[in-house]
Amino acid sequence: MKHPQIDTNEGADLSHHLSTEARDRVANPLKDILRVISESPVTDLISMANGDPHHSLYPFRQIMYEVPSVQDTSDPVTSWRNNSGLAQIIHSYKDEECALSIRDAFPYTRAAGLKQCRDVITNFTNLIFTPPNHHVTLTLGNSDGITKVFRLFGEKGDHFLTDEFSFPSMTNSPLAYGVKWVGIKMDSGGIIPEELEKVLIKWDEAKSGRRPHVLYIIPVGQNPTGSTLSVDRRKKIYAIAQTWDLIIIEDGKSTQRHPRTSSDTLPADPYYFLQYDIPQTNSTPADPDEFIKNFRSTLIPTFLSMDVDGRVLRIDTFSKVLAPGMRLGWITSNELFHLKLADYTDSSTQPPHAFGQMFVTEMLSEHGWKTEGFCRWLKSLCMDYQRRRDFLLDVFKREVESTGYASVNCPQAGMFVWIEVFFEKHPRFVRGWESESGGSPVVARTNTGQLLEELFERLMNTQGVVFIPSSTFAIPENPLWVESDGHVPLSDRTRFLRATFGGTEDIIEKGMIRLGKGLREFFQN
Ligand SMILES: Cc1ncc(COP(=O)(O)O)c(C=O)c1O
Repeated sequence: MKHPQIDTNEGADLSHHLSTEARDRVANPLKDILRVISESPVTDLISMANGDPHHSLYPFRQIMYEVPSVQDTSDPVTSWRNNSGLAQIIHSYKDEECALSIRDAFPYTRAAGLKQCRDVITNFTNLIFTPPNHHVTLTLGNSDGITKVFRLFGEKGDHFLTDEFSFPSMTNSPLAYGVKWVGIKMDSGGIIPEELEKVLIKWDEAKSGRRPHVLYIIPVGQNPTGSTLSVDRRKKIYAIAQTWDLIIIEDGKSTQRHPRTSSDTLPADPYYFLQYDIPQTNSTPADPDEFIKNFRSTLIPTFLSMDVDGRVLRIDTFSKVLAPGMRLGWITSNELFHLKLADYTDSSTQPPHAFGQMFVTEMLSEHGWKTEGFCRWLKSLCMDYQRRRDFLLDVFKREVESTGYASVNCPQAGMFVWIEVFFEKHPRFVRGWESESGGSPVVARTNTGQLLEELFERLMNTQGVVFIPSSTFAIPENPLWVESDGHVPLSDRTRFLRATFGGTEDIIEKGMIRLGKGLREFFQN
């Protein structure tokens, strides 16, 4: 059943998407008192309310961060790596003036995160994504944000939609409380909107239960395939989400036209800020606002930027652009979902640790890089990863493609390439298992899966190189929602290896040489 027409002007009422758990969750009463205290008009309020160690007992009063200076060079990442650039010193203090003092950062606080940190991230989010009337909730990174969001919507027996090859660290989590996944067919441009719609139209609630109401998607530099959704596909997917009342979880706006919107193969998540092949202008604007505007215009519009209903939750992280151990990220969502997420966090993990919040607040404030400097870092980081990608592609051509047993895509974003192996050339490749498996549209008809497993082990054990086999990412198919005519079972299409170009040139070169050698040996017996 289609959802009744939604009035999009004020955002839609999407409360029916909440899981029973999310509806039943009540605010932590102690945290609610903290909120009341923080809003009190009394200026000399004495609080004897909380079991909070007094700040004079904190065993630190100053933290110094040595970070790259981003203003003295157009490529601060290279200068920092070569040790040739200038450094900038930033401080957090307990008692002296700074953007977020130790005294303010370390007491018990409320779940959504410290106000100062949320403010700088909200400012960044507004400048880059310009979301309509959305709120920021801090997380311990995307894993935390996404798994919390799944609980917000997932009910036992629900089916969620995602790319047919998806990131198992995320898709694994709701399985334990009874959510199943429906993989949507992809091509080199990512998820195919028409395939998404087909599944929704074909869905038979009598046989399969409630029609899927959540789409989890990695639109830029998709993990594992490296694909990026074009603007055209994004628009179609958002329109489908409106028609079929889907919530979109965007792992990873601008109302401006993207310079590459005329093409249908455009890149814009954890990998949103790692986009490549962006046409470079001759001059870099010195004016901070111009620089940010210019930087933003090179990024593809997000689902968040298209969201008039409040049905998109965008999940961002500092893991790939500062460091994974930061364990800091943020969710941008409508107010209802923001409040529900805060209630969940107030009664579970508590907000992210104060060190990370302090660092990010200083970095994005007056004494640090500021938003503009952060954008300069991001731009330079893209150039660095693009060089690594290009290096991998060059060595691949020389060492692997020359074998005739594999090819590779050229990802426009992210950290991964998707290496296709031509198993049909293997002397032990078998076609025609269909009769044995009774003609089910989802059961393997070739031994691709077995050969892939064998290749993975041989590469590891005889060549000393590891890639992740595509079977690890494949969402199991079900005949109930898979088209049978002409459908090639996913198990026959798991003919890929995922490789990262995040490593050094030395690692990339050795890895590709070993892959080439391993493929030659594997295909010869
Ligand atoms: C698609 C995707 N989502 C989430 C994560 C996890 O991000 P975080 O380190 O912020 O938890 C990763 C990390 O590789 C990822 O590739």
